[in-house]
Amino acid sequence: MRIVQISDLHLSPKHGFFINNWRRAARRLQQMAPDLVIVTGDLAINGPDDAGELAFARAELDKLGLPWRAVPGNHDIGDEPPGQDPTQLVNAARLDAWRTHFGADWWSQDVPGWRLIGLDSQVFGSGLPDEAAQWDFLRDALDGATGDIGVFMHKPLTIDDPDEPASTRCIVPAPRKALTELFDAYPVRFLATGHLHAAKHQSAAESGHGFDRIWAPPLAFVLTKPTAQNADHILPGTRREVGMVVYDLQESGWNAGFDAVADAEIFDLDDIKQGRYAFLRDMPAYFPEDLVELAE
Ligand SMILES: [Fe+2]
Ligand SMILES: [Fe+2]
Repeated sequence: MRIVQISDLHLSPKHGFFINNWRRAARRLQQMAPDLVIVTGDLAINGPDDAGELAFARAELDKLGLPWRAVPGNHDIGDEPPGQDPTQLVNAARLDAWRTHFGADWWSQDVPGWRLIGLDSQVFGSGLPDEAAQWDFLRDALDGATGDIGVFMHKPLTIDDPDEPASTRCIVPAPRKALTELFDAYPVRFLATGHLHAAKHQSAAESGHGFDRIWAPPLAFVLTKPTAQNADHILPGTRREVGMVVYDLQESGWNAGFDAVADAEIFDLDDIKQGRYAFLRDMPAYFPEDLVELAE
C-alpha cells in the first residue's frame, strides 16, 4: 500500500501564486499513481471567508484522478481562539463549508494491516461541540484498530519542547498532552502533519514517545528569511523544499521518505508579500496565464 501525503497547497482562484507548483506536484502524483493521497490541510489561502476557494481546491484535487482524503488547516476553516487572526476563528459555518466541499473533517480508513486516522487539528481548544465529538470518535477509532495506526492532521503536537506554550504553530497544551498520552497507549506508529512549511522526520526514539513525527514539506512556499513576524517559524534542522511524503505501509512494517518536486519553484513567503501585506489574501489579485497541464 503506497500512500502519499501532500500539504499546504494554498490554492486560490484569486491569488494563484502557487497553482503551478501544485500542478507540478499533481503531475508527479499521476506518474506515481499511489493507492491513496492524503492532504494535511491548508488547501486554500482564504478558505475561512471564501468558500469559493474551497470549491476551487476540491476541483483541482479531483483532476488527479486518484483516490484522496483531506483534513482541514487554518487557511481552510480558521484557528481555535485566539488564533492568528481573531476574524478567522473556526466556527460552525466554516466547518459546514469544509464538510460541503471535502466531506468529514475527521475520519478513519482501514487498509491492509493499518488503520489511518485523519483528525481536524483546528477544533482542538475551540470549545465547539465538534471538539468533544472528535474526542469520542478518536477514542473509538483507536479502540477499534486491529493493526498499526497512522494519524494525519494539520498542526504538529509541538516543535521541540513538549511544554511549549500555546501558539498557533502547534496544538495547544491541554489537548497536546491528552493526544500524546492517547497515541502512546495504542500502536500509533506515526503522526503526520503539515502547517510548518518545513519538513522533518523524527523517529519515535528521538521523540521519546511511541510514534514517529513526520512534518510534510509544503507544496506552496517556504520560509527562509527571519522577520519580526515569522522569526520563530524558521526551524533549525528542517528541509526547505517543495515536496511530499511517500509512505510504504506493509502488513508488518512501514517506511516513509521525502520526495521533492524537482521542477517546483521555490517561493519565499516574504518575497511574495514584499513586507507590505500581513496576509496573502490582502494582496492584489493574481493568476498565472500559463497553467501546467495535467493528464486527463
Ligand atoms: Fe500552510
Ligand atoms: Fe497552516
